Amino acid sequence: MADSILPKGFRVTPIAGALGAEIEGVDLSTNLDAATFEAVHRAFLDHQVIFFRDQNLTPEAHKNFARRFGSLTIHPYVKGMDGHPEVVEIIKEPQDKMNFGGGWHSDTSFMEEPALGSILHALEIPPYGGDTLFASQYLAYETLSEGLRDLLDTMSALHTAKAEYGRQGHSAQKRSSMDIENSVDDTPVFEHPVVRTHPETGRKALYVNGAFTEKFKNMSRKDSLPLLNHLFAQATREEITCRFRWTKGAVAFWDNRCVQHFALNDYHGHRRHMRRVTINGGRPT
Ligand code: SIN
Repeated sequence: MADSILPKGFRVTPIAGALGAEIEGVDLSTNLDAATFEAVHRAFLDHQVIFFRDQNLTPEAHKNFARRFGSLTIHPYVKGMDGHPEVVEIIKEPQDKMNFGGGWHSDTSFMEEPALGSILHALEIPPYGGDTLFASQYLAYETLSEGLRDLLDTMSALHTAKAEYGRQGHSAQKRSSMDIENSVDDTPVFEHPVVRTHPETGRKALYVNGAFTEKFKNMSRKDSLPLLNHLFAQATREEITCRFRWTKGAVAFWDNRCVQHFALNDYHGHRRHMRRVTINGGRPT
């Protein structure tokens, strides 16, 4: 694509060797023209998670940008904003001990059709800490030995929100400013391939995560755990990650089909306020 038709100042700068790039010269609150949208989409596919600084998004503008990529998710367990059920406010108050998203996961892998991507906007950030980590699940898969890759290619696993949103779940515990369902007894279970093929890039990615993957198909949890734990560690090795230091107004947009993420909880006594919109994806294959 010719640079001349992109906005002046449009630039994509990788932030790590594995994944992640910062994009300059785009105002996400505007209706992006086709060339700019295509360049943002290309960067999203190439870098798996993209970042923008100094954005000013109303809930409506946030949803409008997200809708360019697909229909929006209404989270089954976390109540959205009044008038904007697709916008989830992720808030940790100074008195809260637990954060939201503080474990490696791929958003809504517990659904039949898990999320394509998530767009997180920072409204208020703590003076230090509260970074988000991301891990490339392409590299998690590609750096396994060939024999294990071949075996995993034939396997599927069961995903459920039980450990996170069931009665004792970590995500469902009370937070001062978030309304999270915590009385779910029988969360549904869905089967997904252990290795999925990205529908747009054609690359294979590991698709198991510690928050929502319960066990392999036709195996007990006990029998699944040795290999699952190996894969959870493989999925989050330092060299396949990047780390984003938030600033007020920053936006992160990650591809849940090939990325896991982790919200660090290292800023007790300070407030952090984010808004997230999630884009529906298809059934993993
Ligand atoms: C999440 O979507 O899991 C939360 C990420 C964050 O707050 O950094």
